[in-house]
Amino acid sequence: MSKKLVAYFSVSGVTAKVAQEIAAVEGADCFEIRPETPYTAADLDWRNPASRSTVEMKDLNCRPALAGSVQNMGDYGVVFVGFPIWWGREPSAVDTFLTAYDFGGKRIVPFCTSGGSDIGETAQRIQALVGEHACVDAGKRLGGEVSEADLKIWTEGLQL
Ligand SMILES: Cc1cc2nc3c(=O)[nH]c(=O)nc-3n(C[C@H](O)[C@H](O)[C@H](O)COP(=O)(O)O)c2cc1C
Repeated sequence: MSKKLVAYFSVSGVTAKVAQEIAAVEGADCFEIRPETPYTAADLDWRNPASRSTVEMKDLNCRPALAGSVQNMGDYGVVFVGFPIWWGREPSAVDTFLTAYDFGGKRIVPFCTSGGSDIGETAQRIQALVGEHACVDAGKRLGGEVSEADLKIWTEGLQL
């Protein structure tokens, strides 16, 4: 049976916590998507049009370099991909991750946390990034305080 991976990007820990809970419920491995240059508080200031995150997110082709990689991606049949919503979509570092591997034949299950925005059209963007040979779920916004019981209901419904 192929293994499951929970890959996540998180700057303030909310998505990281949910990712670890999903990994525990699913018996999945965890991988943190880490940018080579970590984001500072100033980088994350969405009110500043010149901040790193604002500049990166305005450029749909921005692919910030990552630190580390998944050496055994071939072992995984299901890859959960978690991230905070930035400017209504997945952060650019997640785009780097999604374009760094061959996801052909895999199922990708996106999930996000946010200040309130839903996952929107992020799954369609992810599908375009990974190509038609991967199967991308619609994905789900999960509150930072989602219970283990609710996570189990969600993952059981996925029928992985
Ligand atoms: C640069 C930036 C942009 C954001 N844009 C949005 C947004 O468009 N909609 C929203 O609901 N929350 C937005 N947020 C809030 C985060 O999605 C939210 O705080 C998230 O849970 C943080 O997850 P993390 O702790 O894993 O980084 C933004 C946060 C940052 C830093």
